[in-house]
Amino acid sequence: MKDKAIFTYEGKSYELPVIHGSEGDKAIDITNLRKEIGLITFDPGFANTGSCKSSITFMDGDKGILRYRGIPIEQLAEHSSFVETAYLLINSELPKKDELERFSSMLNDHSLVHEDMRSFFENFPRRAHPMGILSSMVNSLRAFYPEIPQKADEEQTDEEQVTITFARLLSKVRSLAAMSYKISRGHKVVYPSNRLSYCANFLNMMFDSPVKPYVIEEDLVHALNVFWILHADHEQNCSTSAVRLVGSARVNIYAAISAGVAALWGPLHGGANEAVIEMLQLIYDNGGDIAPFIAKAKDKNDSFRLMGFGHRVYKTYDPRAKIMKKMCDTVLKQQKKNNPLLDIAKKLEEVALKDPYFIEYNLYPNVDFYSGIVLTALGIPRNMFPVMFAIGRLPGWISQWKESIDDPNWKLHRPRQIYIGMKKRDYVSVDKRG
Ligand code: CMC
Repeated sequence: MKDKAIFTYEGKSYELPVIHGSEGDKAIDITNLRKEIGLITFDPGFANTGSCKSSITFMDGDKGILRYRGIPIEQLAEHSSFVETAYLLINSELPKKDELERFSSMLNDHSLVHEDMRSFFENFPRRAHPMGILSSMVNSLRAFYPEIPQKADEEQTDEEQVTITFARLLSKVRSLAAMSYKISRGHKVVYPSNRLSYCANFLNMMFDSPVKPYVIEEDLVHALNVFWILHADHEQNCSTSAVRLVGSARVNIYAAISAGVAALWGPLHGGANEAVIEMLQLIYDNGGDIAPFIAKAKDKNDSFRLMGFGHRVYKTYDPRAKIMKKMCDTVLKQQKKNNPLLDIAKKLEEVALKDPYFIEYNLYPNVDFYSGIVLTALGIPRNMFPVMFAIGRLPGWISQWKESIDDPNWKLHRPRQIYIGMKKRDYVSVDKRG
């Protein structure tokens, strides 16, 4: 017999089906609540609402667990590459050797960006934020490349075309990001090379120059792989929900992903990595005393928050932050570099984790707390940090978009509201308004 929840309202009882996930998640199915009872649910920020069934990523926020397609993030960070993880997310299984080779060469084949797109870059103001540029450029890809025919179209979806579109996105977004950096500096664009791996190619496109050839360092390539693996998906977060919501109107995939980039830009989401480094720098510039910043974060009359702390789902240490913290030490040691901001971050973490406020609110470091230090070691400029997050999150957006369009219960996302405005009243002509 199917599990049911009994709901009583105005003296009548109703049975609501309970849905069970494969890892113990439970949800009340309220699809027919309004039709049968006349009620809708109210859940600002959707903190208690499951928007879909998904088989891509599992998170347990109380235990600090994150798995892609069932595989723990720790194992992927240790053994996988970003390209392999992207394949896993999109195709549900780890690739066989020949599948991985095919996928990698497809990424290489589609890495060049249409030359006409360069003129777009050149017309952005020099001070434009790279996330705004990236969002616009991803949207404009539709003008240059075909979209995936969807269910509504007469045409049958061609699997090969779908795979090419995904490869195109993964590969070109990385090239666009590096191009935007070069153009923002007034430097010559470096083209991708099929001799280099996905991550090495990105670093080379960012830092190679006619006057100083970039020397690829395997340690940094590895660090970038891990950085992007850690960001590759995070179930129904704000930007992924944006991709699914915009995609639910059956727009082309480029427009849906562009919406994801825009959502990720915010400092409460992917923009937090930039905000963390700004905060650590501010503490450093103020002599390194963290006490005033902890006090500000706790002060309810002050909007300041400890950036890189807290998470909607994790009520314990973010498993990605654990790996990122370790990586800070490893990369700085390998590079024989020191970053005083890492010492401040560690001190801040130590104090916050003992502070009753942070304990009471379950505020722990999230992925963004240490990621800026790793990115700085890679040479990435601060305003490119959210762009790095976006490139990493692409496989997640793509796989979630794919899952949503393949869902037999796919519906246009259209929440309801509780109207609290004026009751009906008559229009008053301008000469009669008091
Ligand atoms: N510093 C100080 N207080 C905080 C913080 C923080 N970082 N985060 C939450 N709180 C307090 C908040 O003031 C509120 O207090 P009260 O209930 O008394 O008003 C309470 O905790 C709950 O906050 P909320 O914003 O309702 O909770 P949420 O679950 O929506 O917050 C969050 C999640 C990530 C938006 C929030 O923790 C935050 O703003 N953190 C800083 C920004 C940040 O690091 N974002 C990156 C998130 S991880 C990367 C990603 O996946 O996007």
